[in-house]
Amino acid sequence: MGVSRGGFSSRMGFILAAAGSAVGLGNIWGFPTQTASNGGAAFVLVYLVLAFCLAYPAFMAELLIGRYGQSNAVSSMQRMSHQLWQKRFAFIVGFGGIVCAALILSFYGIIAGWMMSYAIEPVMRILNFNDAGKWLVEQSLTRNLLFTSFFMLLTIFIIRRGVEQGIEKWSKRLMPMLIGLLILLIIYVFTLDGSREGFNAYLNPDISRIFEPDLLISALGQAFFSLSLGTSVMIIYGSYIAKKENLVTLGAQVTLIDVSIAFLAGLLIIPSMYVAQAQGVAIFAEDGSLISGPNLVFDVLPTLFNGMGFVGLFVAFGFFVLMSIAALTSSISMLEAPVSFVVERHNLERKKATTLIGMGILFISAMIIFNFDVLFGLVISASTVYGQPLIAMLCCVFVGWIWQRSEVLAEIKAGNPDVEHRLFWKIWPWYTKFVCPSAIALVFWHSL
Ligand code: PFF
Repeated sequence: MGVSRGGFSSRMGFILAAAGSAVGLGNIWGFPTQTASNGGAAFVLVYLVLAFCLAYPAFMAELLIGRYGQSNAVSSMQRMSHQLWQKRFAFIVGFGGIVCAALILSFYGIIAGWMMSYAIEPVMRILNFNDAGKWLVEQSLTRNLLFTSFFMLLTIFIIRRGVEQGIEKWSKRLMPMLIGLLILLIIYVFTLDGSREGFNAYLNPDISRIFEPDLLISALGQAFFSLSLGTSVMIIYGSYIAKKENLVTLGAQVTLIDVSIAFLAGLLIIPSMYVAQAQGVAIFAEDGSLISGPNLVFDVLPTLFNGMGFVGLFVAFGFFVLMSIAALTSSISMLEAPVSFVVERHNLERKKATTLIGMGILFISAMIIFNFDVLFGLVISASTVYGQPLIAMLCCVFVGWIWQRSEVLAEIKAGNPDVEHRLFWKIWPWYTKFVCPSAIALVFWHSL
């Protein structure tokens, strides 16, 4: 290969980086929004079951492919393929995932830009620059272009530095900040009037809704997006883990962190909505469901913060900084997917490759910004509704049907000699071969 690859220097480094990729706008915005529009606690319950029973096994498939292949997504999968058609299939799946990651980054960067501008707005108000503050929270081409570019430059800056000095170092700094901020905000909301009713709506499931098809589909899609599946990101992160590590446990830990943070975010957002209601904000849509979508984060919450007076400015700042950090640790993983591919397959220097690809993705973001009404929704559904489940399903098919079983088992066993006595060993290979692809296909078919 001729390129020194680097890798995570410690177990904790991997956990924080992979959890950093998983924990993002999907957890702090997507999960509470979906919970709000799907009847509250029933959605939470279904989400938890699906995250552990379907997303975790698929997540393990991607990590194992990466660690076995010790390379970018395409080369890793091709290493396991012996016949020409298998190598072609590997290319389609690996490259498809990389394209998916790049497309997600192109719209994710725009939303992250909004989060950053909303984080700066309270600072402007504290400094009495009210006009600037107003400009920051109004939709405009210039604002969107400026903040998306700023966010992409930050992402490029981190990825240019490589795995240990870039991804690992920054995830280690940013993830603890994110968790600390989240907990502080939850404690604060606890003390406000109206929050109790919110906790009730969040934690008391309406069991009759659990089997609603729409709820099941949304919960599964959310779980896949949240664990960054079907984008080849977890393949490349898996390839940076040492063979001595116990991948089964590491994967479970990352899943647990991801799910816990989504759960905590719900504990912040849903009660916040009821607090806002106690202050006179309308939080229910016409059909009686809770308001969701962009309104939730960009209307309801700022109104809540405004109602808190001066303290609210600090809370608003904290909240949107939290969102921006979560977005950044995810966006770096999305950029790493195409960068590692180009560096390893085309022998391009890392810094050059990062700048080139980062700028290319920024160009796509700019096209989306200029044609927002048409392209924004289109790119989101192409990449997350169709792309991710399809590629994740093909990864499971690859592991179950193409990768030699003895090699799969040896990879599970590396760093985990006792695994033969565990449930994972007995169930997972069969489960990934039959259950995961069919279940994902079912959801995919529904979403069509
Ligand atoms: N998992 C991230 C979130 O929940 O916001 C989103 C994401 C990251 C999707 C990386 C895809 C990806 F490759």
